[in-house]
Amino acid sequence: MRGSSKIWNGVKVRIGKLTLKNPVMVASGTFGYAKEFEELVDLRKLGAIVTKTITIKARQGNLMPRVCETASGMLNAIGLQNEGVQSFIEDKLPYLSKIGVPIIVSISGYNIKEFCKLAKVLDRQKGVDGIELNISCPNINKGKGLIAQCPDATHDVVRNVRKATSKTLITKLSPNVTDIVEIAKAACKAGSDAISLINTLSGMAIDIETGKPSLGNITGGLSGPCIKPVALRMVWEVAGNIKKPVIGMGGIMSAEDAIEFLLAGAKAVEIGTANFVEPGVCEKIIKGIKVWTKKKS
Ligand SMILES: Cc1cc2nc3c(=O)[nH]c(=O)nc-3n(C[C@H](O)[C@H](O)[C@H](O)COP(=O)(O)O)c2cc1C
Repeated sequence: MRGSSKIWNGVKVRIGKLTLKNPVMVASGTFGYAKEFEELVDLRKLGAIVTKTITIKARQGNLMPRVCETASGMLNAIGLQNEGVQSFIEDKLPYLSKIGVPIIVSISGYNIKEFCKLAKVLDRQKGVDGIELNISCPNINKGKGLIAQCPDATHDVVRNVRKATSKTLITKLSPNVTDIVEIAKAACKAGSDAISLINTLSGMAIDIETGKPSLGNITGGLSGPCIKPVALRMVWEVAGNIKKPVIGMGGIMSAEDAIEFLLAGAKAVEIGTANFVEPGVCEKIIKGIKVWTKKKS
């Protein structure tokens, strides 16, 4: 397979300026700010931590209910609830920066100015090692969709954020597009150090007793095992068409799942929904990849 010669060989993984001790990271929004998991997971064993997406100002998030189970997965519409960047720096970053693994802060904004402002503020923070751009948010393009659905808008945001920070920049793509490669190329051309994919797939569920949508927001993002084949296909397509490192995610529940992504060409993986099912899953995945690699070498 494409990744078989490059799959993790037990040495450190390089992504931009970051050095990860293994290729297993936790995905934004599924691991809080890490402290929530400190009693369940040996945080020092993780390859890197991607924090819940933050915005400039605090956000309340969407109407309840915000999550529901689906066949082999879940829907969520949290709506980027967070306390804002200042509170993140004062209350969360001191703890995160002492863990001893690379800290990647996920950011989002409504326009280029907001993205740049966040990047500039975080660029000054010693405890921040990298920035993941969550561009699956309402477009600056006058309501014409997500930034991540438009190559030009993606290019513009990445190019401007690139000027605002010298930290490792990862652009996270949305699967809700026709041609994911086109968007990945736009992000790379604009200076992104790496591409991570996929964010959730747009979906909905209806409660047939009440006749109402199961989520307060009506639609939400689908994640978990049900999206893995879609995510894997997209990682395969992007990894074959760009030179920058690809970080794969979407439905990874086991070491075997993670190995599939590495074989498809991903240099690292992010674990999301699986953290809710089994908080210690990342350690198991790291161990499983090591065992598999040894067996195959
Ligand atoms: C409850 C929940 C909250 C999420 N919040 C964020 C977020 O704040 N920012 C982000 O970029 N992705 C967010 N995601 C998307 C995940 O990071 C990941 O891209 C997606 O769930 C696919 O991976 P998975 O199937 O392993 O969960 C969230 C996912 C879930 C399930």
